Amino acid sequence: MITALRGMKDLLPPQNRKFVYFLENASAIARKYGFEFIETPILEETALFKRSVGESSDIVGKEMYQFIDKGGHDVCLRPEGTAGVVRAFIEKKYDRQGGIHRFFYHGPMFRYERPQKGRLRQFHQFGVESFGIASPFEDANIILMLKEILDFFGIDYTLKLNSLGCSTCMPPYRERLMTFLEGVEKELCEDCQRRKETNPIRVFDCKNEACRILLEPAPRLGANLCEVCDTHFNTLRDLLEKEDVSYEIDPNLVRGLDYYNKTAFEFVSGDLGAQNAVAGGGRYDKLVSFLGGRETPAVGFAIGVERLMEMIEVPETKREGYYFGALNEDALTPLFLAATKQRRSDKVTMGYEVKSLKAHLKAADKAGARYCAVIGENELATGKIWVKDLEAKTETTREL
Ligand code: HAM
Repeated sequence: MITALRGMKDLLPPQNRKFVYFLENASAIARKYGFEFIETPILEETALFKRSVGESSDIVGKEMYQFIDKGGHDVCLRPEGTAGVVRAFIEKKYDRQGGIHRFFYHGPMFRYERPQKGRLRQFHQFGVESFGIASPFEDANIILMLKEILDFFGIDYTLKLNSLGCSTCMPPYRERLMTFLEGVEKELCEDCQRRKETNPIRVFDCKNEACRILLEPAPRLGANLCEVCDTHFNTLRDLLEKEDVSYEIDPNLVRGLDYYNKTAFEFVSGDLGAQNAVAGGGRYDKLVSFLGGRETPAVGFAIGVERLMEMIEVPETKREGYYFGALNEDALTPLFLAATKQRRSDKVTMGYEVKSLKAHLKAADKAGARYCAVIGENELATGKIWVKDLEAKTETTREL
């Protein structure tokens, strides 16, 4: 028997209802904040992710589903959504138009990680990207939107915030960090020794306890921000406080993707286990120009849909619409026509097999229908249809 690949899951009942419930409500909230739906391809040129997510990241270094297609192109299943959206943004010349562009998207992402609870190889993200606003008001706006989405689903979370600085304050800070790391290099784990060479701030992402202890006295970017970044971060914090959004400053929050500057954030939940990030995002003001577009400030986030689904309950759905059933062969065609007519205003499913009334009532119940409508000998003779309201437990006969 052929089974699904490791780390890849089918979306079947009853989880499918949770998925749709999440997407519908998250999309409605995103629209309320002025975001519109877009879709970009799942397959992109590998170079796009190498340049944006970064060669030094685990995602690009170890986790890409990369292959050469039949035309000899080096392509990759997208590991995340931002790079494709930025590519589309530039390709459509929105960067040259200027102004504000806000998009949301959802779909499958692929990372060849070791599967475990909360970590899949194919998972879904619901993401938003806002282009054209450099102000921290937009950072606050999207954090509020994300909070509204999580609150809607009754999720318990902590918001973690950090600032990753900019091209003014990051290089001198990196020098200071390098000097510190050189002093402890021999004691760092192999991964951190590699990180030191490729992207030193990533050492703060290390899960190794020994490294964490070693890094405690390391200089932190938060205390080395330039005035512009410091003001940006303080304005964001002030707005969040005025909106009663509680947060924790986490100097270890460096994010696993290279494109961020200034604001970085994650919503983590104690209900998730080791993979506790339900959503993450931040500002990426240089990515559009880095990928060849005109410099455009941008900020966004993505929610891990499977992780979020672990924590939500779908409200009991009410019985809805009709189930149509035939009690004899002659009733099938008039019933089919009646079902089509009824579908103009209601949800309708029909059983094509002739069954007893009892069997049809059972099928209607299973289908979650509010009404069970049947045609038998009597109804055929009188041109009527018998309808039972499964909620009110009442019965009527109507004209066909
Ligand atoms: P990310 O933090 O890599 O950010 O992913 C966002 C979310 O996707 C995570 O918080 C997590 O819930 C979920 N996720 C990641 N990997 C897996 C996995 N293997 N299995 C299940 N869920 C997973 C990004 O991808 C950025 N593009 C977010 C962003 C948008 N930043 C700016 N705009």
